[in-house]
Amino acid sequence: MTRRDFLSLAAKAIAGTSLGFALGPFLAAAHCVVTRTSVTLRGLPREFDGFRIALLTDLHHSEWIPRSYLRQIVDRTNLQDVDLIALTGDLIHCGRPWIPGCVSELSRLQARRGVVSVLGNHDHADYAAAPLRHALRSAGIYDLTNDGIDLRRRGAEFRIGGVGDLWRDRQRPRKALSGAMSAESALLLSHNPDYAETLRDERVGLMLSGHTHGGQVIIPGIGAPHLPSRYGQKYREGLCQGPIVRVYVSRGSGSSFPPVRIACPPEIAIITLRSLPESRT
Ligand SMILES: [Fe+2]
Repeated sequence: MTRRDFLSLAAKAIAGTSLGFALGPFLAAAHCVVTRTSVTLRGLPREFDGFRIALLTDLHHSEWIPRSYLRQIVDRTNLQDVDLIALTGDLIHCGRPWIPGCVSELSRLQARRGVVSVLGNHDHADYAAAPLRHALRSAGIYDLTNDGIDLRRRGAEFRIGGVGDLWRDRQRPRKALSGAMSAESALLLSHNPDYAETLRDERVGLMLSGHTHGGQVIIPGIGAPHLPSRYGQKYREGLCQGPIVRVYVSRGSGSSFPPVRIACPPEIAIITLRSLPESRT
């Protein structure tokens, strides 16, 4: 084999691999990995021990992430039989025309305690934030932008709040967390995980985020060549530790442009909250 033949073959292999990953989301949500993580919160009442949350983020409904793909993601999420579904933004990519189809699919999400959401930076493009929030509320999805809710179970309470996107909105954690009384007694939704670097509120036991997409392309030994974070690879994916608050960063279920994922499959994250062993007795 000549050098020219080898380079030609290598180029075709790379193109074929990239195309395969690029087309993956169009073909089936089977490419999407369901991950499972348990997190212990010191302030979680024992009544909420075992509370299961599905984290869906960064769907990026657009020309390259069709409604049929969202439908499969919703169906797979519903099979997980969780207590709560948390959406942490970038539900659409860029533009109001994508709102009706996206929200129509998300309205089919089923969880015992409902569906909550915050928006991401892409949801703000084309003045889409206000109509998207309105459509989500109309579909029965609770908008947690700088707001929160108290979940109750057998007399115990657990606070779930959210803040606006770090790049495109304001963050008002005081209102989001009002009602939480002790350390690690609340959950906070924030699209951008970098917000953990400025959040110094010990009441937050876990922050749920997306935004980084896991980098979408991972080079072994190096990591993600491109990551939209000021803190390098720190908040690339999975359970991360901020200065005060832990963050679970999902790789997201969709894809930004170009729609290519290499060694970084899309994700539906299932997170189980655990209380301290002594509080369970
Ligand atoms: Fe995103």
